[in-house]
Amino acid sequence: MSNDPLLQPFQLKHLTLRNRIMTTSHEPAYAEDGMPKERYRAYHVERAKGGIALTMTAGSASVSKDSPPSFGNVLVYKDEVVPWMRDLADACHEQGTAVMIQITHLGRRTRWDKGDWLPVIAPSHAREPAHRAFPKRIEDWDIERVIKDFADAAERMKAAGLDGIEIEAYGHLAQQFWSPSTNDLGAPYGGSLDNRLRFTFDMLKAIRDRVGAEFIVGVRYTADEVDMLDGMGREEGMEVSRRLKASGMVDFLNIIRGHIDTDSALTDVIPIQGMPSAPHLDFAGEIRAETRWPTFHAARIPDVPTARHAIASGKVDMVGMTRAHLTDPHIVRKILAGREDDIRPCVGANYCLDRIYQGGAAFCIHNGATGRETTMPHEIPPADKRRKIVIVGAGPGGLEAARVGAARGHEVVLFEAAPQAGGQVRLTAQSKRRREMIGIIDWRVAQCEAAGVTLNFNSWAEADTVLAEKPDVVILATGGLPNTDVLTTGNELVVSAWDIISGDVKPGRNVLVFDDAGDNVGLQAAEVIAQAGGKVEIMTPDRVFAPEVMGMNLVPYMRALQKFDAVFTVTWRLESAERAGNAIRALIGSDYGGVWQERIVDQIVVNHGTLPLDDLYFELKPLSSNRGAVDYDALIEGRPQTRDDNPDGMFQLFRIGDAVAARNTHAAIYDALRLVKDL
Ligand SMILES: Cc1cc2nc3c(=O)[nH]c(=O)nc-3n(C[C@H](O)[C@H](O)[C@H](O)COP(=O)(O)O)c2cc1C
Ligand code: SF4
Repeated sequence: MSNDPLLQPFQLKHLTLRNRIMTTSHEPAYAEDGMPKERYRAYHVERAKGGIALTMTAGSASVSKDSPPSFGNVLVYKDEVVPWMRDLADACHEQGTAVMIQITHLGRRTRWDKGDWLPVIAPSHAREPAHRAFPKRIEDWDIERVIKDFADAAERMKAAGLDGIEIEAYGHLAQQFWSPSTNDLGAPYGGSLDNRLRFTFDMLKAIRDRVGAEFIVGVRYTADEVDMLDGMGREEGMEVSRRLKASGMVDFLNIIRGHIDTDSALTDVIPIQGMPSAPHLDFAGEIRAETRWPTFHAARIPDVPTARHAIASGKVDMVGMTRAHLTDPHIVRKILAGREDDIRPCVGANYCLDRIYQGGAAFCIHNGATGRETTMPHEIPPADKRRKIVIVGAGPGGLEAARVGAARGHEVVLFEAAPQAGGQVRLTAQSKRRREMIGIIDWRVAQCEAAGVTLNFNSWAEADTVLAEKPDVVILATGGLPNTDVLTTGNELVVSAWDIISGDVKPGRNVLVFDDAGDNVGLQAAEVIAQAGGKVEIMTPDRVFAPEVMGMNLVPYMRALQKFDAVFTVTWRLESAERAGNAIRALIGSDYGGVWQERIVDQIVVNHGTLPLDDLYFELKPLSSNRGAVDYDALIEGRPQTRDDNPDGMFQLFRIGDAVAARNTHAAIYDALRLVKDL
């Protein structure tokens, strides 16, 4: 047996967990009608096949109707959830993975205009900034009702054959009682610590009465709200930890540190790229040392060596690698096979989590199969017939096409004009804070090299270059170039956000960034300018700035830009520019009929997406058998492309990613995966 600390079993009461790696609860918003149906099951089964010991399913599965889903949560207050959870549990058990579920009442961490339009409840009227609902102060009949709802939900989960449940306390109703910042009730549920914990212990007792002493029940909570005004501090957190254990009703502690009521605070609890790894691991270790009770923990432990350290150092009993498994569900299997180098790295882009807060499903920025397990393979199956594929462009889309093509057993030749792979991702990674993004590229280059892809750098591919290869399939992933042509006059006076990020143009001293694309590129350029000492105004005609930069991704930008007094101007549009001596006069209009304004600046930076680099595509199009056309039905349904529009055509021709239209990294990678998996 291996002596790898990560691979040692862990005994949790009667339950033997086969190793020390788990995924902590994370709602991917894959539920349909609030039920964990086929897609949900397939997602968890993939991770079970990948070897994790425990999957803590759902995320904040809702026990009550007045805890409506704020991010697609599973509704455990409905009886119909039982067979769905049973199917999921059975399928994971077959793979040797234990299954639990996190249940909760969200309290004020939701909205009243969802589900059944019931008022939001909390132990005070204090609003949670992130979800914005002004709560009703909870009454005695609410407390009785919610406690019963918890017990009912726990009973349902036991009936579904799960191995246990976890109560989500932090930021949700349970811990809203604990924290003086959100509880201004009097006795018996407010005031002293005894009183603030009463709801939780009453609820745990009701659950135990229903599910018995054997069923596993844990609590996920913050043991230190750190800088939260009137929050629960470390000492009280330690005391709560001791009391949870001493209650005899709690089988494991799942430790969080911080608070989650704002995007900024949440980002310190669940750090993203550029922030330190494992920031709360030592703290979790202190709780374990103090309580000597089974301790789980997750917070940016993205790689196997850090996870191994977490276990080997005795800081935790079970280590959560949650986003790491969104990126690569087969981590344990790869450790067992001695293939740690093959693990697709989580680059902390937080596309997954940010999307659910925008009402979308969790997708990994660089794994197109995650959350699409019913249609997209994590392991690429071989093709029936070996073909020759020529790819132009080694950005994320081109590399993904090469990786998947080679994994299918095809001969793959790739041309890239630049000396290195990466395209726009390499540009993004120029920011120190976003350096990890290059993992998207490096992993694919390594996979391609190992699979025998011929990678030609410094190679500008012309039509002749492609034709000389006598390809069966040509895939153009040539990306795009910034489109700054947005002014009525004066376009020649502006530079692109890429020019600034790449360092091709020196940042000015007094700069207007006009950003109507609203994605990372605009803010990244603004950050470069501000850090170089420039005064920067970011202007958008939209009603919010940077609408494509989602909640937690915005946090590091704001932390950087507010330090430099950057100004954000919404609902105004840059119309034109003209020279004004050594400076530039920018004329500003509004879609709302506002009175025209002007700015005198020394630099105007425009972020307005890209235009496709498509010359080669249109040159090759008449020579191709499909005239570049894609059969969308076949693409969506997972069938091969068989269009034969041109009997004289010599090869099939496709283009992907920004070579079609400006989108994002995930779109480029998904374009590639779903096309090439069927070639
Ligand atoms: C898409 C997504 C949804 C999440 N939803 C929940 C949730 O409902 N409840 C919870 O306790 N944690 C939730 N989390 C947090 C994770 O359990 C975990 O604490 C966090 O991702 C940090 O661990 P990691 O760095 O290993 O990903 C979510 C995380 C993600 C990525
Ligand atoms: S989107 Fe980013 S943070 Fe989320 S799993 Fe993928 S690589 Fe990790």
